[in-house]
Amino acid sequence: MSFSVVEIRKDFPIFERTIRDGKRLVYLDSGATSQKPWVVINAESDFYSKHNAAVHRGAHQLAEEATDAYEGAREIVAKFIGGQESEIVFTKSATESINLVAYAIGNAEPGNRFALTASDSIVVTEMEHHANLIPWQQLAARTGAQLKWFNVTQDCRLDLSNIDQVITANTKVVAVTHQSNVLGTINPLDAIVKRAHEVGAVVVLDACQSVPHMSVDVVALGVDFLAFSGHKAVGPTGVGVLWGKAELLDELPPFLTGGSMIENVTMTTATWAPVPQKFEAGVPNMAQAVGLGAACKYLSDLGMDAVREHEIAITGYALDKMSAIEGIRIVGPLENVSRGAVVSFTLADIHPHDIGQYVDSQGVAVRTGHHCAWPLARAMNVPATTRASFYLYNDERDVDALVEALLGAQKYFGRF
Ligand code: ALA
Repeated sequence: MSFSVVEIRKDFPIFERTIRDGKRLVYLDSGATSQKPWVVINAESDFYSKHNAAVHRGAHQLAEEATDAYEGAREIVAKFIGGQESEIVFTKSATESINLVAYAIGNAEPGNRFALTASDSIVVTEMEHHANLIPWQQLAARTGAQLKWFNVTQDCRLDLSNIDQVITANTKVVAVTHQSNVLGTINPLDAIVKRAHEVGAVVVLDACQSVPHMSVDVVALGVDFLAFSGHKAVGPTGVGVLWGKAELLDELPPFLTGGSMIENVTMTTATWAPVPQKFEAGVPNMAQAVGLGAACKYLSDLGMDAVREHEIAITGYALDKMSAIEGIRIVGPLENVSRGAVVSFTLADIHPHDIGQYVDSQGVAVRTGHHCAWPLARAMNVPATTRASFYLYNDERDVDALVEALLGAQKYFGRF
């Protein structure tokens, strides 16, 4: 199937509206959350209007249909990332997925392969989103383990020159982002996974910014856990995914306890259901999971390689056009290699929030701030940036609108 942005935009009802007094919506904030196609909106609405019941419980027809829809979504999601159904845990968000792993590791008792002591270390990177940093800081604080990290070079890549000193025989967990939500940098996982496994550490991958944008195969990546959220992948909010290797999920203690995650309960004890139920306590986010299934199917039908190819082209175009703006500093790799469709920048000394507000007045939606990666902003020596993030429904016209709005901002703030 050929990739037509014009046709794709017809699938997304939000593009039928205008903003700021009739201006065309130029949505460049998919890194924060993506827009939703009709198939996703309808899947969620159909679940509520036709099949709603608590899954894995009732003996009635609706419960059966709801369970089939929910488990069907698990099958689609598993296929989408190359995993097994039993390895897919539905959570409320990628943040919860990562916290699940961190808290569950914290619950591991001596003798469990995940148990951490003060002589162990957890490794992260300086470019992590807070969601893949703070849970590990907290786990380190609770267990006494040491938190170590890879720095970011001035050309916005991970500095792996000291990989053998950062990941050592004491390292138990390496938590890393696949693609930076600020820089767009796609990290070289092979070297990290190889070194982590050499020392017996598990690799936890934050794939929030990669799963929606490229073909991701958990087996080929060789990681041990992977987290992503539905809402950045044209799916609903309120649903995230944790994928983990089956044998690791088996050994990992539960995080949340309660209904549905048990095998047997007495007044003083409980045993756990097999995975993935062990990690899905309570009535789950059924409609959202079903919506996510529809989203993964929508993306698969388009073809994730085609999505990636489209994004490489639009990133190249954006880097060319934006680099030509006087006074701009792109905070991310300037080369369109191993990078995703995210362009963060500063423009002269205009505050990023002012830029965001000005371009919004022209119909262009971007994100401003530290993008939940404050240590990275410090490392890049910027208080904040403006970020344009592109997706399958953006085209060169959107880049042109951004550039024109930025030139307008320069004039408006009297800089050039
Ligand atoms: N993590 C999201 C972002 O980067 C919210 O904007």
